[in-house]
Amino acid sequence: MARYAYVNGRYVDHREARVHIEDRGYQLADGVYEVVGVRDGRLIDEAPHLDRLDRSLKELRIGWPVARSTLSFVIRELMRRNRLRDGLVYMQVTRGVARRDHAFPTTAVKPALVLTTKNTKRLDLDPGAGIAIKSHPDIRWERCDIKTVALLPNVLAKQAARESGAYEAWLVDGEGRVTEGASTNAWIVTPEGELITRQTDSGILAGITRQTLKKLAGNLQLKFVERAFTLAEAKRAREAFITSATSFVTPVVRIDGDSVGDGKPGPAARRLREEYIRFAAAGELVT
Ligand code: PDD
Repeated sequence: MARYAYVNGRYVDHREARVHIEDRGYQLADGVYEVVGVRDGRLIDEAPHLDRLDRSLKELRIGWPVARSTLSFVIRELMRRNRLRDGLVYMQVTRGVARRDHAFPTTAVKPALVLTTKNTKRLDLDPGAGIAIKSHPDIRWERCDIKTVALLPNVLAKQAARESGAYEAWLVDGEGRVTEGASTNAWIVTPEGELITRQTDSGILAGITRQTLKKLAGNLQLKFVERAFTLAEAKRAREAFITSATSFVTPVVRIDGDSVGDGKPGPAARRLREEYIRFAAAGELVT
């Protein structure tokens, strides 16, 4: 079956999809993106993802490449063409194509829009064995709230994690506090039974999965607190887990080689994963 990508108004064979060499995303990482999860042909949390895209674009003064309703249509059309059941929709907007100059183009340039889809394994209710984390210094800039394609520090941290046998990196600031994962938000459950994730400010990306889970966590007998936690606190935690559009809720069982809790996925992470998957099942059916 042919796989399609969407590039600036056209659905093209994924293998033939191209952007211009002077696209500012390619040369300057001058662009933003979104990843929307798909489960059983249903888009998860489309509206909040498009709200965040709107915010990222505004922060960088990049215009919408098409109307929001058009983007929603394109997302669905690409899902249909690619028969996407489980996986993700990736969308990227860059400032457009212009003669290379760090400053914004002075002539009118149309923002460039690219969409792809990716099939991934359908995540089970059962999280399996859980994942290992490796800590890494957070060397990113001070606007991590903007979902830009400038991801080199995240790439290097993730690679260091993978080379050490861990699945994800947790980024640690100068005070020893975990900000977030390389491509996920970070959570712990303290020995006192508090559910903790860092407050949203310019230090982290305000995850959509995080936002939804905040609402779902109300069903659990845990006190929810938004604050920073240190790496040392995470290692002493009863449970830890990560959230993102693609990993949903995935338990963390090791941090830098130390077991978290009893080294197995904990009850809160299991329950929240189930709640999240149940929430995803209530979304709009597309394919
Ligand atoms: N990553 N923090 C960072 C740095 C991220 O890149 C992501 C998402 C998250 C979680 O956000 P959300 O719940 O909205 O997916 C947190 C996506 C999945 C990616 O880059 O592929």
